[in-house]
Amino acid sequence: MDLSSIFKDLGSVMEMTITIFTPKIFYSFAAAFLAVIVTIITLIFIKKEKKLFILSILAIEALTIIIMILISFGTADYPRNYLNKDSKYQLHEQDILLSEAADERGLYIGAAINLDQIEDKNYSSLISREFNAFTAENDMKWSNTLINGELGNYDFSKIDKYIEFAETNDMRLRGHALVWGKGYPTQLRKGLDQSDNKEQYMRDVLEEYISTMVGHYAGRIDVWDVVNEPIALSQPQLEENIFYEAMGSEYIAYAFNLAHKADPEAELFLNGYIGKDPEILLNLLQDLVNEGVPIDGFGLQGHTIFEAKDVNELAKVLQKISDLGLKVEITELDVRLRSLGDSDPEDIYETQGQYVREILEACMEIENFVGITFWGVDDSANWFDLTPPFSWMKPNDPLLFDINLEKKPMYYEVYDALKNQ
Ligand code: XIL
Repeated sequence: MDLSSIFKDLGSVMEMTITIFTPKIFYSFAAAFLAVIVTIITLIFIKKEKKLFILSILAIEALTIIIMILISFGTADYPRNYLNKDSKYQLHEQDILLSEAADERGLYIGAAINLDQIEDKNYSSLISREFNAFTAENDMKWSNTLINGELGNYDFSKIDKYIEFAETNDMRLRGHALVWGKGYPTQLRKGLDQSDNKEQYMRDVLEEYISTMVGHYAGRIDVWDVVNEPIALSQPQLEENIFYEAMGSEYIAYAFNLAHKADPEAELFLNGYIGKDPEILLNLLQDLVNEGVPIDGFGLQGHTIFEAKDVNELAKVLQKISDLGLKVEITELDVRLRSLGDSDPEDIYETQGQYVREILEACMEIENFVGITFWGVDDSANWFDLTPPFSWMKPNDPLLFDINLEKKPMYYEVYDALKNQ
């Protein structure tokens, strides 16, 4: 019996914790927790004079668990041996930039970036050289575009800086993300709770927001993530987010129609995870296409939140999406080192690079594949380092450049895949 599967239904947090564990670690933790429970029960029923003895056993068990947590979640050392002079990566020849290699393939290669990077000379020149596309990591999310969190009261100044950077450097900017169950203003929650007609309230708010935001930048933002993460991560179903709560699954088509009306030229994407059962996503996309909803593509986020996913499985699903006539793009790739399972620590950066290369090569076989964006530029500023429990498991080092902005094996593997060498 697979013990870990019993716990899977207890919810996504529990699932996340379990999936990070290898079975060996999982069983050790299960044994330790069992021992604690037995000790606590003993403590309740034991005679008073023996309580001190049992209490000390409990303390020892608690200490053991803390040590186990520190060992499993603590930082690990991996040699950055790709920096050695004789490493094949140091000897790697490169005649053009990564962005040029992507241009030659007709693909987008991008990174999620922040304003402080645009304002930093080192970063901004690296970004504009190596990438031909980018996404604002956070600044275009609905809740981050409002003055004092007030619905309808927009501050466009930050977005304008991204637009300027994109236009100056002739890069594509991805608008991320309009309708997202995790990035909406708190006032929306309050308004919905107080509303007598929740569906109408949501329709009105979405109409005002999408037509203002997309309309304001019509002709200047080429592609929008209209709906982000509509599929649940841990259950085979649609995510029951605030929009679903108010409108059911209808919110998805509604958002796309509004975005299309506001900028008929913009490409409109549904962005997110594949989820537990790919059929849920495929059926959703098929229905949208059949109903004539103006959707142009699907963006696969591609974070290796848990383990690194099987590339062939991913490619099969993406191929089916492409067969629907939709564009396919990897929009948020980052591969944390420990998601690569029992890889040899000596070669882990190489394994990481080869994994990303496999993804890219499999995707390049897909007719409607248009590009790949990494969720950050370099390992010094990456999402995992700020998100528990991954932030306890450093180094995550999930990106193309290392903390000193040196090219990692992943960079060269991506370059070679693009150059077909
Ligand atoms: C993340 C950012 O990287 C973090 O800085 C922020 O605190 C939370 O959001 N899927 C998405 C992204 O679509 O917008 C998320 O970005 C990561 C998961």
